[in-house]
Amino acid sequence: MKALQKVESLIKKRFSCRNFLPTQIPESVKLELQDYMKSEETHDCFFTISYSPRYNHDYIIAHVNPSTIDSLSFGIRFERIILYCTQLNLSTCWTGVFPQHHFQSISDVTTEYPIGMVSPIGYPTRIPTPKHKKSWEEIFFYNTPSTPLQPTVIPAYTEPLEMVRIAPSGINLQPWRVLFRDQSFHFFVERKKGIIGMGFKTLLLDLQLIDMGIAVCHFELSAKARNLQGRWVQDPPSWSIPKEWNYVRTWQCE
Ligand SMILES: Cc1cc2nc3c(=O)[nH]c(=O)nc-3n(C[C@H](O)[C@H](O)[C@H](O)COP(=O)(O)O)c2cc1C
Repeated sequence: MKALQKVESLIKKRFSCRNFLPTQIPESVKLELQDYMKSEETHDCFFTISYSPRYNHDYIIAHVNPSTIDSLSFGIRFERIILYCTQLNLSTCWTGVFPQHHFQSISDVTTEYPIGMVSPIGYPTRIPTPKHKKSWEEIFFYNTPSTPLQPTVIPAYTEPLEMVRIAPSGINLQPWRVLFRDQSFHFFVERKKGIIGMGFKTLLLDLQLIDMGIAVCHFELSAKARNLQGRWVQDPPSWSIPKEWNYVRTWQCE
């Protein structure tokens, strides 16, 4: 198994692919992916690859333990798998809303664990126009939630933040808000009313916390690739924040 390499290029290259060529994925590529997926498994979730005759391509299927799964950590792990697929030149699409029965029927494992997420994998027919992403001013802040953070103010962290900005998210909502204060980046989720798990009963996960996991994943991979020293801590703000913002975690620069 190879590690993730050139993570920022992978993050920039990834896009949600919804149209695939009928080309089969070579067995050696699938084996390499399976090997990597094993390294992301926990007692809460595991990942398999199955072919769907209905959609005519392969899928990564994530089985999760509904009573213990943590959506934030799941988001981090599944996004690293998505980036590993990108490294293998496979296109993907996070899919949180899917027919549970169909994927249970094609999954080649017998398990009590329901399916929490799937992603098609394969070769794209075409690369779509990139999705619109929010601007820096809308999501990054300096000292107070009403002061936008300009990209040049903390130059070492321009790219890690840019990697957050261009991340995928459910319904492209981009709920991440990051505030830099006291040498720390504080991550918040701006909740949209009625969108916990998108309101679909079959969805076992908190979609917007998964989005935060993806943001945390991109930020950390990029910071580490740049040898930026820091660590994740829980340091909820004592200062005032907008009421829609929910605290997630803090990257303390060292
Ligand atoms: C947690 C999550 C769930 C998603 N669920 C779906 C889905 O059910 N169906 C779908 O077509 N796309 C889904 N997407 C893909 C998003 O629509 C996509 O990431 C977003 O529109 C941004 O486009 P991009 O990924 O090309 O940057 C999901 C993305 C995330 C992160």
